Amino acid sequence: MPKLKVVTFGCQANELDSARIVGILAKEGYTFTDDEREADLVILNGCSIREKAEQKLFSRLGTLQALKAENPRLRLGVAGCLAQRAGAELLRRFPYLDLVVGNGEHLAEIPQLLTIAPGQPTVAASEPVGLFPEDTEIHRDSRVRAWVGIMEGCDNFCTFCVVPFTRGRERSRQPDDILREVIRLRDAGYREITLLGQTVNSYGKKLEPPVSFAELLRRIDTAVAPGTRVRFTTSYPRDVTFELAEAMASLECVCEHIHLPVQTGSTRTLARMGRNYTRAEYLEKVTLLRSAVPDLAITTDIIVGFPGETDAEFSETLSLMGQVGFDGCFAFKFSPRGGTPAADLPDQVPESLKAERLSRVQELQWHLSLDRNRALIGQAVEVMSDRELQRRDSGLGSGRTRQNKIVHFRGASVEEGSLLDVEITDATSHHLKGVLIACV
Ligand code: SAH
Ligand code: SF4
Ligand code: F3S
Repeated sequence: MPKLKVVTFGCQANELDSARIVGILAKEGYTFTDDEREADLVILNGCSIREKAEQKLFSRLGTLQALKAENPRLRLGVAGCLAQRAGAELLRRFPYLDLVVGNGEHLAEIPQLLTIAPGQPTVAASEPVGLFPEDTEIHRDSRVRAWVGIMEGCDNFCTFCVVPFTRGRERSRQPDDILREVIRLRDAGYREITLLGQTVNSYGKKLEPPVSFAELLRRIDTAVAPGTRVRFTTSYPRDVTFELAEAMASLECVCEHIHLPVQTGSTRTLARMGRNYTRAEYLEKVTLLRSAVPDLAITTDIIVGFPGETDAEFSETLSLMGQVGFDGCFAFKFSPRGGTPAADLPDQVPESLKAERLSRVQELQWHLSLDRNRALIGQAVEVMSDRELQRRDSGLGSGRTRQNKIVHFRGASVEEGSLLDVEITDATSHHLKGVLIACV
């Protein structure tokens, strides 16, 4: 049986696509291997969000070219957002590639593309229009945690971002299809479901009839309660509504965590980014969510060194971080992406200043996370055990709180996916420590 290896370079959506690729090719008789030296087909599932992500894939391709010289049977493919963006140009640049395949429904074309004779490279990367193939078996590594795609693409066209070009226009999956998948997962023993979309809370506006994201959450909650956790990512600030805050407050399964990228605390920078909200509006959304869900954890993404970002504008990012008190933050140096408007804006910020700003954001977040985590000391929290988080030889159990915080705890060994009561005894900026009180 031919052997396949898929390497993921991007976000959760990219990872879910890798799981789909494995599922699609398993049907064609491929088995999965981790060792590329014994593989017959290696697919690199690429990401274009920042230059670094692309560079990583290119350097991996270099290694694989050497491997292919030793093993002429080996076929190499590039998939994902990078394939979608670069298309046939990848074949020109890396003539030893056999296959370039984009996002969405293109995934379903892979088996057919592989029937084309070796040495005749193929490209399937026209603009993705449909959703992912509905009938693929998704090859999930975890037996308790699963991602479920509910929408694809994005219509926001933030001036720095490639996603609307690599994943196409926003389109939502039918609620009944989502519910069927969620129920199947519950029946198969999955305990945590994370709904996935670029702007997950913009879900359903274009469906006929429209279905709001809050309504989808209500239907999912009814289908999986009790005992299943429901998460979602990523949320777009403009589309945080009163109805969503209410749903988060009232639905038992929906966890008290939102990832709500702000990007910058400066209204002027937000306008240049084309984000469609001001600093004040973002803060209003935070207040709305926190008044409905007082123990909500809020995490964010921040870009430093966006073109034209002055020292004063950057200080507003730091002050907003302090004002919100984020539980966590992914911070990035602005990376100009060809074809996006921000790449051509004047006053690009020098790399050294970006690096300095990045460390200031990271340092501030370190303190904020520590404060937020320390506030939990002495409390009993619900933890779902998670083997992947376990530190080797520590003898400690590990899991996540409903707020998505990592906890390492002393106590009896417990089954993956169990819900536990843990008393928090200590905290660092990265995780909590505790003692197991009881299994829920
Ligand atoms: N759809 C999500 C973001 C997806 S991309 C949202 O709008 O919230 C994930 C993160 O990558 C973004 O939130 C942003 O912080 C970062 N990012 C996107 N493009 C970038 C670029 N050109 N340079 C640096 N960071 C970028
Ligand atoms: Fe990119 Fe903006 Fe869409 Fe997020 S909302 S995917 S940052 S264009
Ligand atoms: Fe994700 Fe990268 Fe595409 S972040 S959506 S894989 S560009």
